[in-house]
Amino acid sequence: MTGAKGEASLCLSLRSFAAVTRCLKAARSSVPRNSRCRREKHRRGPRRAPCNVPLEFSLRENSPAEGKALLCLRQLTGGLPGFSIKNMVDEPFLNDADFEQYRALIYKESGITFTPTNRSILESRLRERLRNREKSSIKTYFDTISRDREELKNFLDSITTNLTRFFRNQAHFDALEHFVVPELLKIKRGSPGATLKIWSAGCSTGEEPYTIAMLMKEILPPPWKFEIVASDISLKCLMSAKEGFYSDNRITGIPDLYLKKYFDRVEGGYKVHENIMSTIRFDYHNLKNDSGLRNLDIVFCRNVIIYFDEAAQTAVINRFWDSMAAKSFLFIGHSESLFGMNTQFEFVKTEWATLYRKFTGV
Ligand SMILES: C[S@@+](CC[C@H](N)C(=O)[O-])C[C@H]1O[C@@H](n2cnc3c(N)ncnc32)[C@H](O)[C@@H]1O
Repeated sequence: MTGAKGEASLCLSLRSFAAVTRCLKAARSSVPRNSRCRREKHRRGPRRAPCNVPLEFSLRENSPAEGKALLCLRQLTGGLPGFSIKNMVDEPFLNDADFEQYRALIYKESGITFTPTNRSILESRLRERLRNREKSSIKTYFDTISRDREELKNFLDSITTNLTRFFRNQAHFDALEHFVVPELLKIKRGSPGATLKIWSAGCSTGEEPYTIAMLMKEILPPPWKFEIVASDISLKCLMSAKEGFYSDNRITGIPDLYLKKYFDRVEGGYKVHENIMSTIRFDYHNLKNDSGLRNLDIVFCRNVIIYFDEAAQTAVINRFWDSMAAKSFLFIGHSESLFGMNTQFEFVKTEWATLYRKFTGV
């Protein structure tokens, strides 16, 4: 986002009343002329400078919270020289027709569903993407991603939400340890020492598959073995996952025992041991398509289908069914459910967590 020549622009996407007031305070006292500033910079080190700043907000009057923030902004800045507020309702960044085009393309290519409710998320991610491509407009960028598959991949990557952490939802790992693995060993008792095949679908930056791998190392009795495929649509996340480096602030949640046993201390953080890394194959995979994986014993797909609509969720879940062994187990996020969905999975309530199972054949 750029302002008029010779003026500074604030690259802000404000979502709440608190954020608006915080940023206004920062803007009043800290914005140097002729610079592009981001919110984080204001937080770290304000500098005194004139307030000759056009503020551009992605606030929409039709959302009550943002409407309130906009009203407050008008009151707050009314008397301040140099402030101009550009109302995004008059001049939207993404007009309805553009939104519809982008929404339809994203849905077709990934299953990720944007609606009027989360439209602002798409807008801010698109803004960020275009900021790195000086010559692109909303329309030219749409043409680019419609014909250039590589850029489409980058774009899909940029709109994903990748929040994750080690041992996220511990109850699932308790159910894995105390219910799923013992059940599988019973089911497979005819072939002792077989390999349990696990898929972490939508693995983000790797915390989930590494958690599974550490736990399996701990609980799987010899001669049983396991292997994990971990996939995501985000190439950036996969690169980071493959590296296996986690900064100090990302290792919270890992019990000390695991940290000592399965990580090396390196500058600024921790690196996963090779003997854990070698149990995982990281792979680019878009859940819109068949993975080609078959006979999986356990599938983790947590906090992924929450971004899809029901039709896309059903399609993904049914593809999991096809890729799983006759007797196998599926974990989805604790805020996700297959309730009312047209699938053959059975709901299983264990002492630790709920999950789903495929139970076919003899
Ligand atoms: C919120 S993260 C969840 C990570 C991990 N499963 C967890 O629960 O902590 C969701 C991940 O799903 C991925 N994702 C979203 N849509 C996808 C798709 N169509 N195919 C593959 N991965 C997708 C995103 O890139 C993101 O990394």
